[in-house]
Amino acid sequence: MSKKPVCLIIGAGAGIGGNVGKKFAKEGYHTVLVRRSDEAGLNKLVADISAAGDSAVGRLLNAAQEDAIENLIVDIEQNEGPIEVVVFNLGAQFGDRTLEETTYKLFELGWRMTSFALFRVAKTLAPIMEARGGGKILVTSATSAMRGNAGQHAHAAAIGGRRLLCQTLNAELSVKGIHICHIYIDAMIEAPDTLGRLVGEEIYEKLLAEKANGKDEMVIPEKVADTYYHIAHQHRSAWTSEVDIRPFSEQPWWNN
Ligand SMILES: NC(=O)c1ccc[n+]([C@@H]2O[C@H](COP(=O)([O-])OP(=O)(O)OC[C@H]3O[C@@H](n4cnc5c(N)ncnc54)[C@H](OP(=O)(O)O)[C@@H]3O)[C@@H](O)[C@H]2O)c1
Repeated sequence: MSKKPVCLIIGAGAGIGGNVGKKFAKEGYHTVLVRRSDEAGLNKLVADISAAGDSAVGRLLNAAQEDAIENLIVDIEQNEGPIEVVVFNLGAQFGDRTLEETTYKLFELGWRMTSFALFRVAKTLAPIMEARGGGKILVTSATSAMRGNAGQHAHAAAIGGRRLLCQTLNAELSVKGIHICHIYIDAMIEAPDTLGRLVGEEIYEKLLAEKANGKDEMVIPEKVADTYYHIAHQHRSAWTSEVDIRPFSEQPWWNN
């Protein structure tokens, strides 16, 4: 059991999840990093944080599976320490699929990974946080939460609904000391485990060459991590419930 407050990251790849985990660990949290399939990537993240003298453990699990989230939260509370902050970082970007290509199963999976999984986190953890006097739930989101688009049926429906779930949770839980923030990232991120896999190595490398490496035209996860930390430590008289993030060179979606 760690004496430090726990920051739980659900969806800890090399992009937003891992970098927000590093930031909270650097600031004195015991970080519990959860990802689904890449054990080597998870071990490397934990090793990097430990090598910096900070505190982290990794858990490999599929958050969309029945009872996975509920069991995880109970186990962390019993064995790691009190969860003060959750960063819910799961998306459901399957790539563009026409209506014909979007199966019932895929549509349901999008909802399971995003809206329903967040609901399960809140249902399990909110009573525990409330009994302790408060907590923070930070939810990473994307442009599709604000605007539907061709090929985005499963993704947009899932995360658009989740945005309103965040508002609903906030309306009920903020007076109980629990702060929920919907953080939507309106641009591509330097994220090899998500965007990199989605577009393939060749296109991802091309994107980095065109927009990254000093050009700052893709979101740099390490920089976003500061925003997450700030939001988790706002005074309750000035809580942010929604924030949008994009690089200097991007136009907001409503201009396109
Ligand atoms: N990447 C972008 O360009 C972009 C743009 C806008 C918004 N976003 C949002 O950013 C968030 C993701 O951040 P990121 O792209 O920087 O990715 P990341 O933090 O590098 O990685 C996210 C990790 O989530 C894990 N994951 C996926 N499904 C899971 C499940 N069912 N159970 C447990 N873990 C699971 C994956 O683990 P494994 O790799 O081990 O399977 C993946 O590595 C999402 O909310 C997404 O909507 C991303």
